[in-house]
Amino acid sequence: MLTFDHVHFYYKKGQSVIENMSFTIETGESVAIVGANGCGKSTIAKLMDGLLLPKEGRVTFKNIDTSRPTDLDKIHEQIGFVFQNPEDQFITTTVMDEVVFGLENIRVPREEILNRLNYAIQAVQMEDYLDSMPHQLSGGQKQRVAIAAIVAMRPEIIIFDEATSMLDPQGREQVRSIMNELHRQGMTIIHITHHMQEVLSAERILLIHEGRLEFDGNPLTFFETATVADYQLELPFAVRLYQMFHHSTPLTADWKEMVRLQWSIN
Ligand SMILES: Nc1ncnc2c1ncn2[C@@H]1O[C@H](COP(=O)(O)OP(=O)(O)OP(=O)(O)O)[C@@H](O)[C@H]1O
Ligand SMILES: [Mg+2]
Repeated sequence: MLTFDHVHFYYKKGQSVIENMSFTIETGESVAIVGANGCGKSTIAKLMDGLLLPKEGRVTFKNIDTSRPTDLDKIHEQIGFVFQNPEDQFITTTVMDEVVFGLENIRVPREEILNRLNYAIQAVQMEDYLDSMPHQLSGGQKQRVAIAAIVAMRPEIIIFDEATSMLDPQGREQVRSIMNELHRQGMTIIHITHHMQEVLSAERILLIHEGRLEFDGNPLTFFETATVADYQLELPFAVRLYQMFHHSTPLTADWKEMVRLQWSIN
């Protein structure tokens, strides 16, 4: 369980970046964080794992306060990060070493390393690339290796900070399906994204606007609110299509199904 309790944060005194933010993310949830450029999403991600500390209020992970430096290692082990540019994360010269490196660092026993390597590489379908150089892979493959390296560490939470923004639709879809599978297996997924299509697979959306939490709820309620356009967000294609046909009736819980129906009729 990850909790923000009345968190305030600024980089420069007097220029507030996060204001009075409170929410709790339960173990196993899949949460999308959305909002315009510069609204504070990456700052929130860094506050989550103690890379940044609140100026006021508290961030706790399983009741461990991120401001207690002695416990930070524990938090770093439990919260994994996947960034926009996977190259920034690579430190070794083969895909296999990339996964093994982190495990050796936290002193996982040899035989266990092999199990975890196999599991993580299979999860991202990169079995055929174990000896490849990470830097020579395609963007989508690089991102999958970065994910494998994190998955192998068995964190409880993975934060994807615009991890799909440099990928083509197929690469995005692959990463999205890996996220869904990890979530299905019980991992907590936090996905920071500008792609409204992707948030449809989250259970919960946090909308950030100028450092404040403006919305916290499920995607259906989120896309029902007419204010989405005010936050420079685009409605997903399926929602737009649905509204085109049904602009006079409110969105219903089975709108996805109805869009599918419309799609096949027209
Ligand atoms: N290291 C820093 N020093 C000073 N200001 C910073 C720093 N990092 C971010 N900021 C500022 O804090 C605000 C929030 O930035 P943040 O990176 O959290 O936004 P974001 O929502 O992740 O944006 P994007 O969608 O562009 O990634 C911005 O105004 C940004 O300029
Ligand atoms: Mg960001």
